Amino acid sequence: MVDTSVLNSVSLITGAASGIGRHLAIHASNLGHDVVLIDLDANGLDETKKLCSKAETFCIDVGNYEQIVEVKEALDKKNINVNYLFNNAGIFIEGRSWKTSHEMWNKIISTNLLGITNVLNVFLDQMLNTDIKGHIVNTASMAGVIVGGFLAPYTATKHAVVGLSRSLYEELKETNSNIGVSVLCPGVVQSQIIENERPLLEINQDDLDGDENAKLMKTMLSEGVRNGLEPSMVAEHVFEAIDKEEFWIFTHQEFADTYKEYSQEILDSMNS
Ligand SMILES: NC(=O)c1ccc[n+]([C@@H]2O[C@H](COP(=O)([O-])OP(=O)(O)OC[C@H]3O[C@@H](n4cnc5c(N)ncnc54)[C@H](O)[C@@H]3O)[C@@H](O)[C@H]2O)c1
Repeated sequence: MVDTSVLNSVSLITGAASGIGRHLAIHASNLGHDVVLIDLDANGLDETKKLCSKAETFCIDVGNYEQIVEVKEALDKKNINVNYLFNNAGIFIEGRSWKTSHEMWNKIISTNLLGITNVLNVFLDQMLNTDIKGHIVNTASMAGVIVGGFLAPYTATKHAVVGLSRSLYEELKETNSNIGVSVLCPGVVQSQIIENERPLLEINQDDLDGDENAKLMKTMLSEGVRNGLEPSMVAEHVFEAIDKEEFWIFTHQEFADTYKEYSQEILDSMNS
């Protein structure tokens, strides 16, 4: 194994211009990591960069595979080898499954799911080959393990992130690799996540399901997020979990009863 004490840790963080991603970047930087920051939001990236000691920024779309390849090429030219991946960029789209338009399904799958697989496709082989200790944290959500109504696009993609992350965890465990895997499932955290009308995200509000229940869920979540956990606390929690090599990272215990009911329903059905 390579002696990591003589090397700088390098963390790549997607969705680093705001919220949880910004605080993962600050926390990593405070630990002495060099950081590679990715987001669609150039101004937000600049703000985060100012809060970190040594940062490279890339204003790109995580759902665009070629752009992720270009990031890797730019890092290779500078001999920067990433050993921590925080696949955190995400968008929120509310609505019913069949009333979510084809365009909106593409949009959310591209960002929330392909945004992660693109980074894994481009970066993971090299991380495994260099044999340097590292870690991957994929940001899912409580919506990745429980199902609230009228949030089909968000729930479906976050369930996919949990399934993908667990698969990756099992795969890397099998190869005795030096790269750990965790999935982050936050409850409500102060950020811009629910504000999907931000022009940069290019989510045409006319394409969303205008259903009253979906709008109500959005309003409730918006309120929850406004009063949610500080993202700096989430970042702290994430780095503790990395140290302890924990796969599951939950930030909100209050959803435990809902999960219990949901899993009990499955167990009852299996046993009947
Ligand atoms: N805040 C919460 O309550 C909460 C709860 C559960 C899960 N999450 C998840 O946490 C992650 C971080 O979100 P947040 O809450 O900090 O929200 P946020 O909106 O403040 O930050 C998300 C960042 O991702 C960026 N982004 C969106 N689409 C992108 C794309 N295609 N390419 C590159 N960057 C893109 C945005 O510009 C933004 O800066 C998301 O995956 C979100 O689903 C958040």
